[in-house]
This record gives sequence, structure tokens and C-alpha cells, in this order.
Amino acid sequence: MRTRVRTAVLISGRGSNMEALIAAARSPDYPAEIALVLSNRPDAPGLSRAREMGVAVQAVDHKIHAGREEFERSMQAVLDIHRIQLVAMAGFMRMVTPWFAEQWRGRMINIHPALLPAYRGLDTHARALADGVRVHGCTVHFVVPAMDEGPILAQAAVPVLDADTEGSLAARVLRQEHRIYPAALARVARGGLTVTGNRVYDAETAAEPPALVVPPV
Ligand code: GAR
Repeated sequence: MRTRVRTAVLISGRGSNMEALIAAARSPDYPAEIALVLSNRPDAPGLSRAREMGVAVQAVDHKIHAGREEFERSMQAVLDIHRIQLVAMAGFMRMVTPWFAEQWRGRMINIHPALLPAYRGLDTHARALADGVRVHGCTVHFVVPAMDEGPILAQAAVPVLDADTEGSLAARVLRQEHRIYPAALARVARGGLTVTGNRVYDAETAAEPPALVVPPV
């Protein structure tokens, strides 16, 4: 059997994307194994969920560390102990230092609830609604030493409907997050990607998807 890429999922809260990654990795032909779930919050609900799902968990509490680098060195030590090869941030709400980002360049990915480079940062759904955009979505990207930047691996676009509230839009985007994150992690774990500037090229060409036009024409 092919060896699977040992992956850590970094969380801070609920962990629904983490759950989608663990579920996908249960399939025997999935190229990554979720070997660890690590949280900066010891009380993150995702930690108990991961434990229930049979995955090793570890909390590294950022509050008991003197600074960001010290916190990250503790995280790095845990990742080393578990022989982690890939890191997937899933609702991990800590900015990382250039040191940590460089350490994992090309081997660390993140999911963001917006179509980057639009709506970096927080409150993406409320800001998209306030701007009146008709299309919103989510992005999986490689992590670089700048917040919500880095070569884009995958995006899913969803319509913004007249009746939408922040909650309904967040839920529509989240359903797509759960689809594209496992697929994007699999592509990275399989290898064969080339990154040139901000563009990610795949050795395999996928079929062209249809356009999303809102309202439909
Ligand atoms: C997700 O929507 C994720 O995209 C977002 O936090 C949520 C975590 O939910 N991440 C960010 O905002 C990072 N900037 P989850 O814990 O249920 O996966």
C-alpha cells in the first residue's frame, strides 16, 4: 500500500472542516492521513469531536506562552513528535509568524470563507452582503507570510440571494468549504502541483466547470 501523507489539522473552534477532512481521509485511497488535530484553544469543541472520530489530539494553549514565536515553537515540537508532513488550517484563528510560514512553505494550506483576494480578514459574509455582491464563496490556498494571501488551490462560488442573512450565506459557503477542502488537500498530498508566482498548476487537467451567473440569464 502507498504511504499516506501524515497531516495535522489546526483548529480553534467548531471544527466542521476538520470533520470533513477526517471523514474524507477514512477512504482507503485518500492520499493523506489525518494523524493529528491540534488546537490553540484547549476548550475547542472540535477537539472532542476529533477524539470521538479516533484521531490523536493535542492542545497548545497560546495564552500560556510568552509570545507568538514561543507558542509556534511549542506547536512545531508537537508537529515534529507526530512526524507531520502537511498542515491544514481549518478555522485556526491565529496569525502565524514569517518563521512558521517559511518552515511550512508549500506544505501548509488554509481555508478562507471568501473568494480571495476579496474579503481578507474577518466578517467576510457580513461584508459581502453589505457590498451587495451577487457571488461569494470560499478559497483554499497555500499559506505564505502574509494574512489570507498565497497561491490559490481551489475556490467555490455560491450565489448571494435577496433573502440572505449572514447566517444563511455562511451556511451556503460552509457546505462548499466541506467539498473543496478535502479535494484540495488530496491534490497537495498526491503531489504533481507546480507553483509559479501565485498560480498553481496541476499535472492533470480537469474538465471546465460551468459559469455561475446570478441572477441566472
Ligand atoms: C470556516 O468558515 C473557515 O473558513 C473560517 O472559519 C470557519 C471555521 O469553521 N476560517 C477563517 O475565517 C480563517 N480566516 P469550522 O471550525 O467549522 O471549520
